[in-house]
Amino acid sequence: MRWMLMIPVLALAACMEREKVPSGAEDFATFCSACHGAGGKGDGPAAAGLDRKPADLTGLAARNRGVFPGTRVMAKIWGYTGGRDGASPMPQFGPLLQGDLVPYDGGDGIASPTPVRLVQIAEYLKTLQR
Ligand code: HEC
Repeated sequence: MRWMLMIPVLALAACMEREKVPSGAEDFATFCSACHGAGGKGDGPAAAGLDRKPADLTGLAARNRGVFPGTRVMAKIWGYTGGRDGASPMPQFGPLLQGDLVPYDGGDGIASPTPVRLVQIAEYLKTLQR
């Protein structure tokens, strides 16, 4: 009777295959590490050619009195610059904006529907904090 167990497992596997979303670490390596470096320290291979130095993403919490500035980080990677940052070389990330929306609370108690891959990247950045 073990074959009966196989059916839901296979169905689940098929489902996961179809909706496979890259992890936050994978998306960071693809979209961010060229500038910010593999470890997020701001020392990627493309950093030297930029007018502005890519931020050291391992110090986000340290520079914010020990608290990861989730809302600000999300605004930044979503591409919202508050109108004061038009000169940033950091691009918007079209592919990361597609897909499912999930609630994201960056620390201000307000959960906003946010593309899941951006949420995963923000969670990954948390793990890089020194
Ligand atoms: C083309 C180079 C480039 C790429 C690619 C890039 N960035 Fe940046 N990023 C910068 C530069 C330069 C700055 C500093 C100037 C600024 O704030 O815009 C910056 C700043 C930031 C900041 C603000 C840090 C702070 O102290 O407030 C965050 C957060 C950030 N990047 C995250 C990311 C993430 C996540 C990705 C990938 C999804 C990414 N960046 C991809 C160049 C880049």
